[in-house]
Amino acid sequence: MPRSLPTVPAALLALVLTACDGGVHGTPGGSGVHDPYFPKAGNGGYDVGHYDLRLAYDPSGGDRRLTGIATLTARADQDLSAFDLDLVGLHVDGVTVEGRPARFNRAGQELTVRPHDDLAARETFRVTVRYSGTPRTLTDPDGSHEGWLRTADGALALGEPVGSMAWFPGNHHPSDKATYDIAVTVPKGLQAVSNGELTGETSAGGRTTFSWHTAAPMASYLATVAVGHYDVSRYTIGPDRLPAYVAVDPTQTKASRAVLAKIPEIVEWEEHNFGPYPFSSTGAIVVRPQDAEYSLETQNRPVFHGAPGTGTLVHELVHQWYGDSVTPRTWRDIWLNEGFATYAEWLWEEDHGGDSAQQTFDRLYAHGEDDHPGLWSFPPAKPSGAAHLFDDPVYVRGAMVLHKIRQTVGDAAFYDILRGWAAAHRHGNADTGEFTAYVEKKAPDKDFGPIWKNWLYGKGKPDRP
Ligand code: TRP
Ligand code: ZN
Repeated sequence: MPRSLPTVPAALLALVLTACDGGVHGTPGGSGVHDPYFPKAGNGGYDVGHYDLRLAYDPSGGDRRLTGIATLTARADQDLSAFDLDLVGLHVDGVTVEGRPARFNRAGQELTVRPHDDLAARETFRVTVRYSGTPRTLTDPDGSHEGWLRTADGALALGEPVGSMAWFPGNHHPSDKATYDIAVTVPKGLQAVSNGELTGETSAGGRTTFSWHTAAPMASYLATVAVGHYDVSRYTIGPDRLPAYVAVDPTQTKASRAVLAKIPEIVEWEEHNFGPYPFSSTGAIVVRPQDAEYSLETQNRPVFHGAPGTGTLVHELVHQWYGDSVTPRTWRDIWLNEGFATYAEWLWEEDHGGDSAQQTFDRLYAHGEDDHPGLWSFPPAKPSGAAHLFDDPVYVRGAMVLHKIRQTVGDAAFYDILRGWAAAHRHGNADTGEFTAYVEKKAPDKDFGPIWKNWLYGKGKPDRP
């Protein structure tokens, strides 16, 4: 205590300290993190470290209700009088912060929480949201569906880019990664599959709870839950015995058997090319083709809508490195996911008796528009709007950017860049500027200016291949 304080009468000092209520006078955290494509996604003022989600779902009831208790452990970035979570639909039954009931308010996707006591900068706090209702299926800006999808015998949660707010409250922006415990209680006889590793399966009162633990940071768009009947196979891969958990809708078992048998070989090929597998388990979830409109690289365990082809299996698994472990800082950086995953498909072809990546590149440059009409409509690093994040320029032209880098530096340095990039940002976030700086640092004698200008950021089809 400072020397001057004893001169203040003790009673007065006590009064001052009480009135200050600990001295924290926070301001609201803010309703978004200024993502260029989804300005309301995520929230300002705090960072989530862990999500504990306790869900119960009964697909047999007419209203297919979800009941949830979400406990987030977060750290305040500033003194906070209030903070937002993202949640759409569902009914909020109550919110506590540090165990004390908190006031809350809803407007659009913002659930604003006003804790009983202001939170101090750098303070770790726990917020618990109890909620229930029939979760919504959301329509993306591009017209595709995500969020909570009903399936014939259960449900499937898909969250890219902003669907996860349909089934749990959170800081739904890829820049805030966290660890997860997801426990799902379903009627006995059904299964619930999620990310990470299965740590428990207990039955009581005609219901079964499946507990899943994700120890590595995960962006919320990569969280998934699949409820239904699944044929499950479990095995390990390689000398490090990486656990695999593969869940297949019984109607898809026969059609997907041969391709899923390639998972060990694909993971080992990817480790060889891109570096150590970034997570503590792998696998796949195969749903019926009509259950989802696309496959998604949900962490550890991608979801496939129907038996995938080998290319799609390679694509979603390589996202574990590029997308899931190295996650875009904003949605503008999405080509760092899709360009890499697409280029990995070309490399797989090249290494397995198909076209070389050079041949694929040449074909696309010559007449790529035949199969990909919008191929040259915008540059990969600047998608022309939220409705175009998953369009061909991001995937195909993004892959072409990587091929241009490979042409410039040669194979040895190129693979070094792919591996080094995954290692440098492992379990983190990265943006396009960091990638170009990384490439330049790895090959300081080369001039990448024209590649960035013509292929990555430039409008229209580059003049020369
Ligand atoms: N990221 C997925 C993949 O390429 C695809 C995807 C996710 C998608 N969300 C989408 C495609 C929305 C179209 C629309 O593996
Ligand atoms: Zn992809």
